[in-house]
Amino acid sequence: MFQLKEKLSTPLKIASVELKSRVFQSPLSGVTDLVFRRLVRRYAPQSMMYTEMVSATEIHHLKAIPRLMEIAPDEDPISIQLFDCRPDFMAEAAEKAVAEGAKTIDINMGCPVNKITKKGGGSSLLRQPEIAQAIVKEVVKTVDIPVTVKTRIGWDDQEITILDFAKKMEDAGAQMLTIHGRTRAQGYNGKARWEWIAKVKEIVSIPVIANGDIFSVDAAIKCLEETNADGVMCSRGTLGYPFLVGEIDYFLQTGTRRAIVTPSQRLECAKEHFNNLWEYKGIKGIYQSRKHLSWYCKGFSGASELRDRVSRIETLEEGNQLLDHAIELCRKTEIN
Ligand SMILES: Cc1cc2nc3c(=O)[nH]c(=O)nc-3n(C[C@H](O)[C@H](O)[C@H](O)COP(=O)(O)O)c2cc1C
Repeated sequence: MFQLKEKLSTPLKIASVELKSRVFQSPLSGVTDLVFRRLVRRYAPQSMMYTEMVSATEIHHLKAIPRLMEIAPDEDPISIQLFDCRPDFMAEAAEKAVAEGAKTIDINMGCPVNKITKKGGGSSLLRQPEIAQAIVKEVVKTVDIPVTVKTRIGWDDQEITILDFAKKMEDAGAQMLTIHGRTRAQGYNGKARWEWIAKVKEIVSIPVIANGDIFSVDAAIKCLEETNADGVMCSRGTLGYPFLVGEIDYFLQTGTRRAIVTPSQRLECAKEHFNNLWEYKGIKGIYQSRKHLSWYCKGFSGASELRDRVSRIETLEEGNQLLDHAIELCRKTEIN
């Protein structure tokens, strides 16, 4: 633990970019918009965050910058994640991402969704390492900010190719790798196999970030100890819990734990999230907030009933009424 502590208290260098925090908020499609990232950043001001993945083909055909790529002026450090299988489109999109203010460009080589893999993007690039290399080379040649890759350990149990693949990404010019310790076939099921992340760490010299099953401070420490990774990235653990990245970062920086978030504090955060989504996206934000609010409804009496009701809300007033009532009830039980 001592050696680990020493390493974790120093900044992380991704080529020219220096990060004061080694805890990352992952890109999550349909989740990590500007509103969500702002909440996470309140508790983890120095952590790297990612936009949702953006299609380079869409960027090529659209005249305007897609909303998914929008970054607030005060967001730093922030990375824009791109996906596609065409090196030329990726390079073009990367240039636009730089103009938007991205600190790094992250290339998605892990998405398991059929719609993406059938078109040659996401995790299907694990099976086409030459194309993956061509993409990285082209983007590296085009932009002068670091280019990073987020991927999985392989396609399935018969094709765990991450060792060869990681080396190829490094050789092509990638400046950091984030490894989600599952195969494409696993989707999000089963345990993340951190042992493969440890093996990657042994053979590349660029930073390696461990991802998969980081749901608590303890899990983060265990993962860092087992993998010797240079940092950890939180994903599903942040759904309805934007405090997680900050909690881990705080522990790594100070050796002490932040106070436990009470149910009423969590619901207040849910209410803020809900209202900010409305402000940012209008009625679409209300519909999108249904899933977020459901994720927040955990760990207090009446949570499952509330979850059911918030998953059907139609208006701002309805949502605020439900949340205000629940916050009041939680506060009462917390005082007693
Ligand atoms: C709803 C959802 C959306 C996701 N969207 C993205 C994405 O846009 N880009 C990406 O690289 N990974 C995406 N992922 C994968 C996560 O970033 C992460 O690699 C994965 O969930 C494993 O970590 P976990 O076990 O801690 O959840 C997504 C996962 C989920 C559950």
